[in-house]
Amino acid sequence: MWLRVNRRHHSRDNYLELLEEAGIEAEIHPQATDALKLSKPCDVNMLPGFADGWVSVQDAAAQLSVEYLDPQENELILDCCAAPGGKTAHILERQPIAEVVAIDADEQRLSRVYDNLKRLKLEAQVVCGDAREPAKWWKGGQFDRILLDAPCSATGVIRRHPDIKWLRRAEDIAALAALQSEILDAMWQQLKTGGTLVYATCSVTQQENAEQMKAFLARTPDAELRLGETDKPGRQIMPGELDMDGFYYAVLYKKQA
Ligand SMILES: C[S@@+](CC[C@H](N)C(=O)[O-])C[C@H]1O[C@@H](n2cnc3c(N)ncnc32)[C@H](O)[C@@H]1O
Repeated sequence: MWLRVNRRHHSRDNYLELLEEAGIEAEIHPQATDALKLSKPCDVNMLPGFADGWVSVQDAAAQLSVEYLDPQENELILDCCAAPGGKTAHILERQPIAEVVAIDADEQRLSRVYDNLKRLKLEAQVVCGDAREPAKWWKGGQFDRILLDAPCSATGVIRRHPDIKWLRRAEDIAALAALQSEILDAMWQQLKTGGTLVYATCSVTQQENAEQMKAFLARTPDAELRLGETDKPGRQIMPGELDMDGFYYAVLYKKQA
């Protein structure tokens, strides 16, 4: 069980002390700077300040997406495929004076974004729409940063959702990869020159991750890879590495065309 400490209330190290005082043992993560791993899972109501939004439950691998996004002051940031809003909240906790737009196609899942933001007392512009058709839901300017937490096979989180093994079919992977590439192309058009897009999945398949990225880089001359190598783009975390979920990230910079 991983926690994400809300920087607006406490630093991770201060919150670690609060946990110690409450008799809850936890340790830090070497890269996810807001993450604490509990030695034993516990009821969230036992966690100091949970109801007041001091802390959330979120795997450290998911938290690394926002480390890579690196949101800056006064930026316009899009969280694409945002529901239930864990990463939207993390962006706002890290960067209180950024303007954040959260979009997802699933209206029901979006209600959980509102719930999460309310508990944490954060504000974002929440929009329901299809990421492949941004013209239908976005009339504003291009974004400084985009987090694309793409719909995926979720093969990296089977340890938490074992039914995925039963429900997934081999042919789903190609369909998901096609959807991801359509969303990637549409989102790239919404990114400013000089902007950064982080592509993330909780998948471990090559087609959704490194192969997806190689194909994107080959057809997108103004995209510069900022994590990994051309023949091995991005970073793949396998489930269990540092006790994290399986996850993939690619960091892309938009250069002058
Ligand atoms: C991996 S989940 C997002 C998790 C979320 N980012 C978080 O950290 O809480 C992927 C999301 O993509 C959304 N989605 C799927 N197809 C979409 C599309 N065409 N346009 C926008 N959102 C889509 C799903 O509704 C789902 O909420």
